[in-house]
Amino acid sequence: MSAVPTAAQIRQSFLDFFKEKQHTIVPSDNVGYTSRDGARIFTNAGMNQFVPIFLGERSADVDTWPGVLHKGLPTRAADTQKCIRAGGKHNDLEDVGLDTYHHTLFEMLGNWSFGDYFKKEAISWAWELVIERWKFPPTRVFATIYQPGKGDPAERDQEAWDIWAEKFRSIGLDPDIHIVNGNKKDNFWMMGDTGPCGPCTEIHIDLTPGAPNLDEDRQRAGALLVNGSDASCIEIWNNVFIQYNANPDGSFVPLPAQHVDTGMGFERVCSIIQGTKNFTDFETAKISNYDTDVFKPIFDELTKLSGKTYASTLPKANEQGHVVPVTEQ
Ligand code: SER
Repeated sequence: MSAVPTAAQIRQSFLDFFKEKQHTIVPSDNVGYTSRDGARIFTNAGMNQFVPIFLGERSADVDTWPGVLHKGLPTRAADTQKCIRAGGKHNDLEDVGLDTYHHTLFEMLGNWSFGDYFKKEAISWAWELVIERWKFPPTRVFATIYQPGKGDPAERDQEAWDIWAEKFRSIGLDPDIHIVNGNKKDNFWMMGDTGPCGPCTEIHIDLTPGAPNLDEDRQRAGALLVNGSDASCIEIWNNVFIQYNANPDGSFVPLPAQHVDTGMGFERVCSIIQGTKNFTDFETAKISNYDTDVFKPIFDELTKLSGKTYASTLPKANEQGHVVPVTEQ
């Protein structure tokens, strides 16, 4: 991609990539559904509709699902899922309106393996798409892997570390800088307090101003920004290795098979690719989900209707820590 792609082209590029890897492309599920315990809840991740397959209650048969957009293997799926994170274990409400990269409704691009490929392919394809196809500057890319604390489930994900290390070394980057350990909160993904879960590896991008590629001192500084809840370094993609079912009694029982469940923040990727004009300008880049063509046509119409212009401002906390509306600052 040399011209700056539109959001529609970025979405399609993700789906086409996984089509090439024999994935069946399924439609987004509804954003509201009835959970296994009968509660009406919002879809909080792309994996929600696949839970019966992960648990071994249904065979991997996605190629026969109604509305399939492209028929690939029954054991591989990809889609873009509309998600709402407004409550429960993954609640973004506290951040919406206060930063540039959380919303109530967002699209999650994802790929899944149902007892088919596992860590090696998932990480290699993540690298291929992000670094080789989309051309994110690799010196700004950081991967996190699971390092459990005392009493946490599962083991350190050395396998994921080794696969990432080979990738970073292959282009002369130091894996000790570019692979960061993460704790249970950040690197052991659970859809809720119960259900399919497992260690995960995330991709984070350093967005601090400067040249597209960073020297080694800047790379070391970038690693310290990972998981810092700051817009200067954000997560774009989570690859979960689903291996356990979390039970209400707090136990983690191995599942009959191992699966892959990934989720990429579509609007975040658009904000980085479009904001940096296809990675050519990190110096003056305005990187915000709201400054992409996902939202711009809506804001343009609101501008027309209201006669007010959209100024891309964020509210700030005052000395008491309360959020001050922009107009009162
Ligand atoms: N389920 C994982 C997440 O939501 C990966 O898709 O982050």
